[in-house]
Amino acid sequence: MSLLEENQATDLEQMVGLTRRRFIGAGALCGAAMFLGGNLLSRSALAVNATTASPLLGFTGIAAASSDAITLPPGYSASVLISWGQPLHKNAPAFDPSGNGTAKAQEQQFGDNNDGMSLFAFPGDNNRALLAINNEYTNYRYLYAHGGAPQSAEDVRKAQASEGVSVIEVQRKGGTWQFVQDSRYNRRIHGNSPIRLSGPAAGHAWLKTSADKSGKKALGTFQNCANGKTPWGTYLTCEENFTDCFGSSNPQQNFDAGQKRYGVTAASRDINWHQHDPRFDMAKNPNELNRHGWVVEIDPFDPQSTPVKRTALGRFKHENAALAETRDGRAVVYMGDDERGEFIYKFVSRDPINHHNSKANKNLLDHGTLYVAIFDAGDGNADHPKGKGQWVELTHGKNGIDAGSGFASQAEVLIHARLAASVVKATRMDRPEWIVVSPTDGQVYCTLTNNAKRGEDGQPVGGPNPREKNVYGQILRWKADKDNHGASEFTWDLFVVAGNPGVHAGTPKGGSSNINPQNMFNSPDGLGFDKAGRLWILTDGDYSNAGDFAGMGNNQMLCADPATGEIRRFMVGPVACEVTGISFSPDQKTLFVGIQHPGETGGSTWPEHLPNGKPRSSVMAIRRDDGGIIGA
Ligand code: FEO
Ligand code: CA
Ligand code: CA
Repeated sequence: MSLLEENQATDLEQMVGLTRRRFIGAGALCGAAMFLGGNLLSRSALAVNATTASPLLGFTGIAAASSDAITLPPGYSASVLISWGQPLHKNAPAFDPSGNGTAKAQEQQFGDNNDGMSLFAFPGDNNRALLAINNEYTNYRYLYAHGGAPQSAEDVRKAQASEGVSVIEVQRKGGTWQFVQDSRYNRRIHGNSPIRLSGPAAGHAWLKTSADKSGKKALGTFQNCANGKTPWGTYLTCEENFTDCFGSSNPQQNFDAGQKRYGVTAASRDINWHQHDPRFDMAKNPNELNRHGWVVEIDPFDPQSTPVKRTALGRFKHENAALAETRDGRAVVYMGDDERGEFIYKFVSRDPINHHNSKANKNLLDHGTLYVAIFDAGDGNADHPKGKGQWVELTHGKNGIDAGSGFASQAEVLIHARLAASVVKATRMDRPEWIVVSPTDGQVYCTLTNNAKRGEDGQPVGGPNPREKNVYGQILRWKADKDNHGASEFTWDLFVVAGNPGVHAGTPKGGSSNINPQNMFNSPDGLGFDKAGRLWILTDGDYSNAGDFAGMGNNQMLCADPATGEIRRFMVGPVACEVTGISFSPDQKTLFVGIQHPGETGGSTWPEHLPNGKPRSSVMAIRRDDGGIIGA
């Protein structure tokens, strides 16, 4: 999500088939600037990994960089697809870089801080698609002319308008994918859009407010982190740090166990919506909090449709939603809860997916079973730990989840999924971020981004969380028993343990065998697979380029071969950004990637590089100059 989240020390090393430092190659970054459409958009770098061990990775890895530009391998170019504030329709107001644009204008413009996204191709047309793109949060520094926290109801409404989801049409013209302004599919869903609540918790007393006595009609989605795409053609947007938006006009308000566990505070976490919008004031509308923290399903091809919050998937700080299918055809949704020491979940639908009639799946995610993961301590291998795990059902009346442990119904279990998962002693993880499923062998990968508190606060060191004060993060992988995502057991290993071999000699903090001074990174966050099975890794880490992070440069995107473990740096983002959100065109010849919060702490005018220009979060389209498959 944002800056300098946490970081400190580490431990352990692993191996995934390659010898450490094997790819030490040529050297320094320099590179030629490339101008596209008049703007400096990308910079190609000299190779650092001259040799190729992997048949999957055909590009030359690049050096770390700290420039205010996109850096790519030789032979690749980037262009801006869409930026924060761009009007979605011709009659919508233009972006106002002064910060004086209105909330009403922002409701008609591309949202801020784009994050997870999915591409939906038009059937039978390879040159037309929709992109559904999350807009996670906003930077007040740039949103308002005054550059500070919201000062009025209009300010709050503008912030709410900047978050949520943007659906846009894109078309390929002359080989380049472009945003189609005024498409009838272009749509904003934001912090005040009508949204339906469905599933077992819908209508529960804890979801009722003075404005909605039914408990089924919520207003708004915000803090939309990452995403999922269902096999039946809908988009899932995941509500993550929703508690940040709430506060209380009573500074002494006592919060109950559920409210505390989800982390709401009276002072609010620098967002201060509650001061100007009573909906977010816990002293006035405490149940509003329970109407957020869900996965929301959107039909991108029906711009009139009402998005639906699917309560059967549980309420927590959702990162993303990775779809898979059981052997008997039911939908599986893997989900991480991104907070230190929180859990990994799996939802399995009651009914099978109907692959012949997509509309028949419209309520599929309302009925099913939620599970949480328990990992064993593993084999303790310092190089490449591995072990076993199991999924434990979070169903009222089972596994000690009942009135005796504080749950009156399944609705309460879902609303307080974190508390229910603690009852069954789920494994407290190092901040689970994205989860993806390999299209080639069905193995599941999950970024555990970092956790400076590992080893404290009752969080044991070991298993898939092997390092105390983990500042660098790791990528966990698991394989379902008998390759059936419906199975209750699995085996796990760590695909990579990030580290800094330039600063720390040896195993623990230098990272695993597939980390070397040329590909090192910290805080893996976004993940994506392309059709060929390349694993793309996007980072949201410490970009100070100093201390524990010396030599790592700006946040970046890397590409891995899951079979050999080789990891190569593919792209470096501009100053103080996070690289997040990834999709491919159907022919795999264009990669869409998000640059979020460039210059969040200043120091950037990317992508426009105008005098006194403001940085703007943007979605980029990356192509090979020879028109080939990305990464090959
Ligand atoms: Fe929005 Fe956990 O990242
Ligand atoms: Ca993230
Ligand atoms: Ca992150």
